[in-house]
Amino acid sequence: MVEITHKEKTEEEKKVIEEVRKTGKQWMGEKTMDEVAKPELPTRTNTLEDGERVEISINQIPAITFLEGNLPKSMLHELNAHVDEHREKMTDYSGNLVGQIKQTEKSQQLALDREHPTVQGLMNLLGSAGRAFLKTYVGQIPVGGTEAFDKAPIDCFSMWTVHSYEGDYNPLHDHDVSYDQKCMAFSIILYCMVPPQIAKLGDSKQLHSNGGATDGCTYFTWGTSTGADHLTLKPKTDRYVVPEEGKFLIFPSWLKHSVAPFYGEGERRTLSANFRAPFISQ
Ligand SMILES: [Fe+2]
Repeated sequence: MVEITHKEKTEEEKKVIEEVRKTGKQWMGEKTMDEVAKPELPTRTNTLEDGERVEISINQIPAITFLEGNLPKSMLHELNAHVDEHREKMTDYSGNLVGQIKQTEKSQQLALDREHPTVQGLMNLLGSAGRAFLKTYVGQIPVGGTEAFDKAPIDCFSMWTVHSYEGDYNPLHDHDVSYDQKCMAFSIILYCMVPPQIAKLGDSKQLHSNGGATDGCTYFTWGTSTGADHLTLKPKTDRYVVPEEGKFLIFPSWLKHSVAPFYGEGERRTLSANFRAPFISQ
């Protein structure tokens, strides 16, 4: 038979608990503060016999990797000037995209000309950053170590601009288009133009009170944790990014994301691209 032994704590025990808490230690059933001082854990210096010390290590397992970068103003200016100059001739890409970019006459999603030197320069730069991103996975993908990642052919297979205005938005989606075979695929968002009412949002964490804290922001989600789960030591599984001109993000193509609408004047212009690197047979 199980005996239930729970009993109320005595006044003396309650005092000890309070004292122990003040010191930041744990109460382990001690009755007086004299008993609280615990013997030290064995260490290399006080262990009598070798091999008896307690060893600890921390093993944190990450869920998601972002690479974040910033284009210099001169490069961003060159890119925006290129897009402005060629915008009328660029082909509509909205048939391939889930973005609901249609609220104004200027709202557009356009394919970039990947033969143009300005676009090629950017593609090379983003490809190099993408290689650095891929190399963070060297421990989990058996393709021949760092050297194989250095040589892996990285293919930019799509690149487009999104010209959003008041009310335009992008519903939750991902860029995983590896229908035929699995491969290492990553995607990029580069913020080219950001209206001031979005740029000033700063660190967007206050979602309450109709403050519009996430208007025009990109939202990433990779799990089901609730808003309070991180307090119970569960990992956070989502993130808002406030656009900044020149900032770019590289992330795995399977990562779901969305863009909230914004209101007021101005163009929110982004460039997106998808890259893939096939696995190399050894
Ligand atoms: Fe997207």
